[in-house]
Amino acid sequence: VNASPVRVGLLGCGNVGGALCELIAAEGAAVAQRTGVHLQVVRVAVRDVGKPRPGIGPGLLTADAASVITDPTVDVVVEVMGGIEPARSLIIDALKAGKPVVTANKELMASAGTDLFAAASGAGVDLLFEASVGGGIPLIRPLRESLAGESIQRVMGIVNGTTNYILTRMTEAGARYDEALAEAQSLGYAEADPTADVEGFDAAAKAAILASIAFGAGVVATDVYREGISTVTAADIAFADRMGYVVKLLAVAELIDAGPTVAVRVHPAMLPKTHPLASVRDSFNAVFIEGAAVGELMLYGRGAGGMPTASAVLGDLIDAAHNLRSGGAGRAPLLGHARIWPMDELRSQYYLNIEVADRPGVLATVAGVFGAHGVSIRSMEQEGLGDEARLVFITHTARERDVQATLAALRELDAVDRVGNLLRVVEAD
Ligand SMILES: NC(=O)c1ccc[n+]([C@@H]2O[C@H](COP(=O)([O-])OP(=O)(O)OC[C@H]3O[C@@H](n4cnc5c(N)ncnc54)[C@H](OP(=O)(O)O)[C@@H]3O)[C@@H](O)[C@H]2O)c1
Repeated sequence: VNASPVRVGLLGCGNVGGALCELIAAEGAAVAQRTGVHLQVVRVAVRDVGKPRPGIGPGLLTADAASVITDPTVDVVVEVMGGIEPARSLIIDALKAGKPVVTANKELMASAGTDLFAAASGAGVDLLFEASVGGGIPLIRPLRESLAGESIQRVMGIVNGTTNYILTRMTEAGARYDEALAEAQSLGYAEADPTADVEGFDAAAKAAILASIAFGAGVVATDVYREGISTVTAADIAFADRMGYVVKLLAVAELIDAGPTVAVRVHPAMLPKTHPLASVRDSFNAVFIEGAAVGELMLYGRGAGGMPTASAVLGDLIDAAHNLRSGGAGRAPLLGHARIWPMDELRSQYYLNIEVADRPGVLATVAGVFGAHGVSIRSMEQEGLGDEARLVFITHTARERDVQATLAALRELDAVDRVGNLLRVVEAD
């Protein structure tokens, strides 16, 4: 064990920062034994220095985050405060000062990753961000290192635990969306304002980071087509179940051509029950990777939570400490320009349902609208609802643009009272 410790400055000490301090206290000696790196937390920036923080010496705390960067005793900076500013400026300042940075900040990496990587390259120091996607699941390092030689075609994941929990409860307990959300909130899986999770913003940020790393192209969160789960109904899920599918919120990044042109989207989808991702239940996450040589891979685990996320941060810290010792840095990702494939061009099978007046001729009219837009129907189910009927369709592979035009035309029909959810259907192999 190298006697001189690597001194860590923390920006933030909440769920993740607090767990990291606990982990270093509990595992530091074993880590030093295994890796030769002895970590010591020497500065901790928080908003409120008066809050009780068990296990953290009050002398370490400061409300002045910039002072952690300039402190000459800090060798490595960990950013776990979240948000764009001041996190972004603090990270740039640390890199410029030659201090490696480890961050868990998906929001920041998904909006300013390219600039931050340039700053890290320019300074010749590490910027590591394993914890920013998939919490404790190793994803970034496998993609960047183990799979560096792969031509990755598609990355498809369940990357938000809150929505996966809600959809699991709707599937397994027959709960309605609002009931499952309330349950997730009472268990601490969902925030009081659940928008970032249930409307897919969190998953979109992660999809952007995964796409950037998998395809070496700068994809930002606003490039990602996004739909959430708040309109998914118990009826959608029951139908999916009868047809051999589960409904999951998927983040999908696909390489369309070597340009690179990249398709990136987050939306609820019907996934065949036989797909490996279909078995990912509760708040677990998993990412399914398809590469030209390696074939199919899946990485599964805890996508959030203080301790799992701190585990990923600690792994990065040890890596950064090694590099600091050897006087080098890992290469920052080289991100070229990505062309984003328009969602309109997606080719998929689709599930959709409409409520219509139950009278002769309606079905033929509806079928005519599909036909006029070149959308062919794979299966149809009809269910009576008093004077009305619900028609549930699964299409053959069609183009998103044509399916959206079909929906718009259906809404114009007198006989159609309501157009329900549209879900993309992942085809079984
Ligand atoms: N929690 C997870 O499961 C998870 C998983 C993956 C990634 N992440 C990411 O990790 C980061 C941290 O998440 P978290 O859950 O640990 O957040 P959190 O519990 O809200 O903690 C944030 C910490 O940062 C401090 N802070 C905020 N603004 C500050 C400022 N301007 N100056 C100094 N300190 C400031 C807060 O101080 P006070 O303690 O005084 O309020 C708090 O200690 C986020 O980027 C998040 O997206 C979290």
